[in-house]
Amino acid sequence: MEIKKVGVLGCGLMGSGIAQVAAMAGFDVTALEVEQKYLDKGFAGIEKSLAKFVERGPEKGGITAQQKDEARAHLKGTTNKQDLADCDIIIEAIIENVPQKKEMYTSLDGIVKKECIFATNTSSICVTELLGATKRPERFIGLHFFNPVPLMKLVEVVRTIATDGEVYETAYEFAKKLGKVPVRTSDKTGFIVNRLLVPYLLDAIRAYEEGVGSIEDIDNAMKLGCGYPMGPFTLLDFVGLDTTYYITHVMHDEFKERRFASPPLLKRMVMAGWYGRKSGKGFYDYADPAKPVAGRF
Ligand code: 3HC
Repeated sequence: MEIKKVGVLGCGLMGSGIAQVAAMAGFDVTALEVEQKYLDKGFAGIEKSLAKFVERGPEKGGITAQQKDEARAHLKGTTNKQDLADCDIIIEAIIENVPQKKEMYTSLDGIVKKECIFATNTSSICVTELLGATKRPERFIGLHFFNPVPLMKLVEVVRTIATDGEVYETAYEFAKKLGKVPVRTSDKTGFIVNRLLVPYLLDAIRAYEEGVGSIEDIDNAMKLGCGYPMGPFTLLDFVGLDTTYYITHVMHDEFKERRFASPPLLKRMVMAGWYGRKSGKGFYDYADPAKPVAGRF
């Protein structure tokens, strides 16, 4: 089957990024949100990102002003689920909440054509648990993108025990057409990246709690000693401490291993409403976003 029309559920950080890369790749994209104000916010982010690509220029991996206009012309926003009826693939990137995701899939299942592939961008929820909310379990997969979606090359293509082989290959090829590098993985909580990344991030917090080094020193050590683009605390603030805390619950619940359990400090920071960059405070204070100041806890 050929994918031409893409639906994206949710126009937050991940959803808007997914809508953007699909539009830049020439697909017709409809993004669904519950209210117009969320679409406006997501589309403003897309506009900013497209402008950065134009600034960079096509010779350095960016795009021309004309390509930006073309991408924009491929994008539509809606608050009406009926507008997704003729999509060939729908990628869900709404809040990480099982009942809300299930409700969304169940309501769309009756609206969208039966050939349409349903994909979830969940980072940790069991994909198999979600497919039960539809009557198309064999047409249900995971497509896990990384933040910031327009820049990060990887997509994890997640197969469940119910996924049809042809559907899987179609989704895999689709990820390539988005300009991404797909990797094959199965529906084991955390897939490949979070299975390895989450224990590393949590260990960085434990190392800090145990006095191994300061936040800046641990960040610098991993950046300069291992060549990582961001140290663990900068990355934690970037991903969101609330998001990471949520993932620890799902992963610890699945594997019952300490390496996936939240360190006390992470829990307390989330309880205090310090979610990282998006809330203005996490392991760093972003009062001046250009000059984050590391905290002492
Ligand atoms: N759209 C388009 N262009 C953008 C952009 C965006 N959203 N954000 C930044 N850029 C451009 C900048 O303008 C700059 O362009 P230039 O080279 O022409 O000046 C270029 O990209 C580089 O940006 P910066 O100089 O600001 O920053 P970096 O060089 O540090 O790159 C980064 C930014 C790609 C985010 C890099 O720091 C990085 O790879 N960090 C790690 C990110 C990561 O690990 N993400 C995965 C998180 S885990 C996850 O998402 C899974 C989930 O399940 C938890």
